[in-house]
Amino acid sequence: MIDQWGRKVNYMRVSVTDRCNLRCVYCMPLQGVQLRPRDEYLNYDELLRVIEAGLSLGIDKIRITGGEPLVRAGLVDFLAKLKPMGVKDLSLSTNGLLFAPMAEDLKKAGVDRVNFSLDTLKADRFHKIARLSGDIDAVTKAMDAAIEVGMHPVKMNMVVIRGWNDDEIVDMARLSIDRPIHVRYIEVMPFSEAYEFTWENLVPAAEMRQRLMDEFEDLEPLRKGIEGNGPAKYWKIPGSKGSVGFISAVTECFCGECNRIRLSADGKINPCLGHVHEVDLKPFIRNPEATLEQLAGAMSDAIHLKPREHNFDDATADFSKRIMHGIGG
Ligand code: GTP
Ligand code: 5AD
Ligand code: SF4
Repeated sequence: MIDQWGRKVNYMRVSVTDRCNLRCVYCMPLQGVQLRPRDEYLNYDELLRVIEAGLSLGIDKIRITGGEPLVRAGLVDFLAKLKPMGVKDLSLSTNGLLFAPMAEDLKKAGVDRVNFSLDTLKADRFHKIARLSGDIDAVTKAMDAAIEVGMHPVKMNMVVIRGWNDDEIVDMARLSIDRPIHVRYIEVMPFSEAYEFTWENLVPAAEMRQRLMDEFEDLEPLRKGIEGNGPAKYWKIPGSKGSVGFISAVTECFCGECNRIRLSADGKINPCLGHVHEVDLKPFIRNPEATLEQLAGAMSDAIHLKPREHNFDDATADFSKRIMHGIGG
């Protein structure tokens, strides 16, 4: 489907839970997510119906997100239903802690590729950023497991925060040398509790690139990029098996190429990460009289609401309502 700015929307990020086994400072409140009645969240049949309606609008690239998607019970059986319905590209964003033992089953269920979050290679920092203990080795093992079972490409996301982990930019790039890992540096985006924190600690992508070029003088841009549906721009250390990419939502706005909508775990479509509009699909999913066409119509209304670009720099915008962990990045 084409939106009112002429952009083709064919990618939906589906959050299957707002819960997580970490509490990253830029994403999740320290106390975690407030318990809500179970029926506020879509069950798997309801998620399938939304995906079916999305497919009827030409949305055939699906990324499963959270919170942390792998904490939701029954996920693998749900995923196994998506490719047979017509989903062409099925991917997953995860913090990787639970991934390695599930890798084989996820691949069998049709997951083509996976993006891992890892902001540091130092255990004490991991604890400071993620605010719960997690085993960095489990995440690096998860990357190996993904490569081994044939998921491709395997990407790694590092949200860069000045004074917290920006001195690891070069070390992270080295992960792309011997293994086919695509390391992506993400500008921290200003959401809810992290709004002030973000602006104070933002490292612009241009600065990250420069720091890499100071170390790897022949870093070269990859004009064709790396397979994916997202906004990253890729470069390569010559001779390396992977690449390095930059996701520069704040300083180099990529909204002109936006191709996506987001479904939250409680059944709302977010047309844009940088605005608080949302369209609640529950009335169209839970009303037994509502047809698939009506559900698709509500999704198409949401796509019509897609603004031309985000408004991250508007401190008066209602960002307190934007909860990243419920939207899945
Ligand atoms: P592929 O390119 O298909 O591999 O996926 P992706 O990069 O879209 O997915 P991932 O979940 O790994 O997201 C990486 C980062 O990009 C996260 O921080 C997202 O919040 C951010 N991101 C993805 N899409 C958008 C977008 O439309 N706008 C903004 N501002 N950020 C986005
Ligand atoms: N800014 C940038 N990236 C974020 N993510 C979560 N919150 C933010 C934020 N405020 C990232 C996660 C994960 C991806 C899905 O979204 O680190 O890699
Ligand atoms: Fe969990 Fe991902 Fe949010 Fe970190 S960024 S708290 S891993 S959902």
